[in-house]
Amino acid sequence: MKNILITGGAGFIGSHVVRLMVNKYPQYSVVNLDALTYAGNLENLKDVEYKTNYEFVKGDITDAKLVSRLFATHRFDGVIHLAAESHVDRSISNPLEFINTNILGTVNLLNAARMEWKDVMDGKRFYHISTDEVYGSLGETGLFTETTSYDPRSPYSASKASSDHLVRAYYHTYGLPVVISNCSNNYGPNQFPEKLLPLAINNILNNKPIPVYGKGENIRDWLYVEDHAVAIDTIFHNGKLGETYNIGGINEWKNIDLIHLLCKVMDKALGRAPGASEQLITFVKDRAGHDQRYAIDSSKLMNELGWKPSLQFEEGLEKTVSWYLENQNWMKRILSGEYESYYQDQYGGR
Ligand code: NAD
Ligand code: DAU
Repeated sequence: MKNILITGGAGFIGSHVVRLMVNKYPQYSVVNLDALTYAGNLENLKDVEYKTNYEFVKGDITDAKLVSRLFATHRFDGVIHLAAESHVDRSISNPLEFINTNILGTVNLLNAARMEWKDVMDGKRFYHISTDEVYGSLGETGLFTETTSYDPRSPYSASKASSDHLVRAYYHTYGLPVVISNCSNNYGPNQFPEKLLPLAINNILNNKPIPVYGKGENIRDWLYVEDHAVAIDTIFHNGKLGETYNIGGINEWKNIDLIHLLCKVMDKALGRAPGASEQLITFVKDRAGHDQRYAIDSSKLMNELGWKPSLQFEEGLEKTVSWYLENQNWMKRILSGEYESYYQDQYGGR
C-alpha cells in the first residue's frame, strides 16, 4: 500500500496523472491537493472522483499548516508535485503569483516531506515536475540535455528553475529522496484555453482570429499529455534518486507550421472547404522575451527507463481536435468570468 500526494491534480497534466495513478494502482491511496485557481477544473476528474482510492483536498501548497497536517494524517510515501502557475504570459503580467506558488509553495512541500520523513527516508520519494523552459532558448541547432546550464528568461521559467534548484538543494543538504523531470510542451484534452492549441482550436471553431505571436517562427517540441503521464509514472517508480530526466516528443514545430496543420485538421473535422480556417490566422504583437526554440534530448529516459512517446503528432493532433469538438460544453463552461477578462487584457478583444 502506498499513500501518494499529487499536487495540482485538477489542472491539465495533473488530471491525466491522477487518472493514470488511480486506475493503474488500485492498491494506492491518492490524495489530490489543488487550490482550484483559474486553471484547476474538477470536471477534468469526473470519471475518477468516486473511486475509493482517491480523495480531493482543496487547498494551497503555500499553506504550511494544511500541508503538514496532510502529511501527518496520510503518512505519504510519495509526492508527485505538479501544482504551479504555468502560463508564461501571465507570469509577464503578474510575476509575484509565480514566485509565491512555484517557489514558496515548493519549499513548503519540501519542508513538510523532510519533517515527516526525517526518521525513515527509505522507500520515500519526492518527485518534482518541471519544464524544459529552465534551460532558456536554443539557436537553430542543438538539444537540451540534463546537463545543459540553466538560463531561464521569463518570470515563469525563472520561478521553475528556482524550484528545481531548491529540490536539488534538499537532496544534497538533507538527503531528501528527490527526482526531477523537465518536459517540453504538452498538448491534448483538458488544456486550459489560454495555451496555444486549445485557444486556436476554440477560435477556429468560432470563426475568431487565431493570434500568432510575432512572425510565428518560434519553435516548440510537442508531446501528447498522456505520454507525459506515462513518463511520470515510469520516473516516479523507477527513476534514480537525485537524478533529472528530460522528457520530450522528438517533435519540433515552428508555431506557424503547427497552426497551418491545425487549420487543415479542423477544416476536415468541421467539413469546411480546404484553406477556410487559414484565413483566420492573424499575426499579433510578440511575447516579451519570447524564447526562440526549445528541443529536448530524452535519450537518458528512453535508454535507462525504456520510455518513448507512443503517438505520431498528426495522430495526436487529430485525437486532440476530436476531444475538443466532442467536449464543447467543457470549453463553454470555462469561457466565462476570469478567463474572459484575461482574454480581453491579453488580446484586447480581438
Ligand atoms: P495547469 O496550469 O493546467 O494546472 C496547474 C494546477 O495547479 C491547477 O489545477 C491549479 O489549480 C493548481 N495550483 C496552482 N497554484 C496552486 C497552489 N498555490 N496550491 C495548490 N494548487 C495550485 O498546469 P499544467 O500545464 O498542467 O502544468 C502542470 C505542471 O507541469 C507545472 O508544474 C508545469 O510547470 C509543468 N509543465 C507543464 C508543461 C505544459 O506544457 N503544460 C510542460 C512541462 C512542465
Ligand atoms: O515548454 C514547456 C512549457 O510549455 C511549459 O512549461 C508551460 O507551462 C507551457 O505553458 C508551455 O509554454 P509555452 O509558452 O511554450 O506555451 P504556449 O501555449 O503559451 O505557447 C506556445 C507557443 O505559441 C509559444 O511560442 C508562444 C506562441 N503563442 C502562444 C499563444 C498563447 C502564440 O503564438 N499565440 C498565442 O495566443
